[in-house]
Amino acid sequence: MQIAFVLLAAGSGERLDAEVPKSLVKLDNLPLFIHSLIRCKEAGFFNQSILVVPEGFKEDFKSALFEHGLDVDSLVLGGSKRVESMSNALDAIKYADYVFIHDAARPFISVRLMEALLKEVQKHSAVMPALAVSSALKISKDGFAVRTLDRRNMYTVQTPQVFDFQLIKLALLEFKNRNIGDEVFDDSFLLELSGNKVRMIEGDLFNFKITYPQDLEFAKRILE
Ligand code: CTP
Ligand code: MG
Repeated sequence: MQIAFVLLAAGSGERLDAEVPKSLVKLDNLPLFIHSLIRCKEAGFFNQSILVVPEGFKEDFKSALFEHGLDVDSLVLGGSKRVESMSNALDAIKYADYVFIHDAARPFISVRLMEALLKEVQKHSAVMPALAVSSALKISKDGFAVRTLDRRNMYTVQTPQVFDFQLIKLALLEFKNRNIGDEVFDDSFLLELSGNKVRMIEGDLFNFKITYPQDLEFAKRILE
């Protein structure tokens, strides 16, 4: 069984507002993207790894890899949209049965979660970790709550999202051909658009995404 690991690290991190792209920001003395690659190696079942980086920073990522004794099979440039970065990564894969697509912005990915996802994707072809929403959900307008949503069927989803390689390739191709705008919220959305079901399994609270400065603060506190 051939399993590929794609690490999307090509975002700029506008909301984090750091001096370097978000994936290079240090957490516990390691660039953010390194955390996921360490876990990927630990998992021990990946046959290939693809790292997607922002234009102009290839050398920075290369030296960080070298410095931490890590390596990837392909280092590819990302695009201005996440879906373009993802597409470039899939193009770098010659053959795979399954592909894990992970955000470098989620440094606390666990081997246990990856193992659970691998088991599930073999049954359902597409799977993602999700957490049931526990707080009340509101729609706001101009700073005031205008509506309350029923949170009981609501989930927040995480990465890695894992797919049968041919299935995600096809869904991506279909998306490009249909020309239906470029708003892709997550990778599983492509499968939804093409009428495929995506299995959800229990996510991990620690596998949160570093988006705002406070998330980074929170991550640092966890590590203390
Ligand atoms: N990503 C990517 N290519 C893009 C945009 C995002 O590879 N063109 C990656 C990011 O590097 C990140 C993941 O997708 O690991 C999730 O995106 P997000 O958290 O939104 O990161 P950024 O886009 O970098 O942040 P922001 O939206 O605040 O600019
Ligand atoms: Mg973004």
